Amino acid sequence: MKKIIITLFAVTAFTGSALAADVIEMKKGVVFNHKAHAEAVKECTKCHAKAEGGKINGFGKDIAHKVCMDCHKEMKKGPTKCKECHTK
Ligand code: HEC
Ligand code: HEC
Ligand code: HEC
Repeated sequence: MKKIIITLFAVTAFTGSALAADVIEMKKGVVFNHKAHAEAVKECTKCHAKAEGGKINGFGKDIAHKVCMDCHKEMKKGPTKCKECHTK
């Protein structure tokens, strides 16, 4: 297991920002599990303009609330209440 972690880390270090972190910590205590979402949702373009992903232009409260909550409501999965996302 240790070996796998080291290998993954080395790959990330070489490719730099081309890879997203597995878990992204956002403002106000939001913990976004990018890896789990990519697996559950499958299509990168549900959230990103392009299939390769990357920074989302103007990402912040307004975009986040719309994108995150619309999908959770639509799929009837994932949190829609403030405190379920904002753990602090
Ligand atoms: C459920 C929504 C969602 C899905 C699905 C998703 N992403 Fe993301 N991704 C995000 C969010 C939100 C960020 C953080 C954006 C920001 O900070 O501007 C991000 C960040 C990234 C970043 C890092 C940008 C950076 O430089 O920090 C990459 C690369 C990326 N995603 C690629 C992908 C790829 C490839 C897929 C499909 C396998 C994918 N994403 C699926 C929401 C998603
Ligand atoms: C395209 C659909 C989609 C989008 C967009 C989306 N989610 Fe989700 N989210 C899901 C699904 C589906 C689940 C349930 C996964 C499961 O139960 O396996 C989930 C679960 C979660 C959970 C609880 C499970 C966990 O990973 O800890 C959190 C927190 C969460 N989402 C936060 C967010 C945030 C923050 C955003 C916006 C940056 C976001 N989601 C955008 C589909 C989405
Ligand atoms: C599905 C998850 C989710 C839910 C539910 C949610 N938020 Fe958010 N919220 C986010 C994300 C993601 C951000 C953007 C974080 C960032 O920019 O890093 C955000 C940003 C914010 C910000 C701005 C924080 C800052 O410093 O810029 C406030 C204030 C906020 N939310 C309040 C609320 C309130 C009040 C509710 C309930 C009505 C709520 N949120 C529900 C995910 C959520």
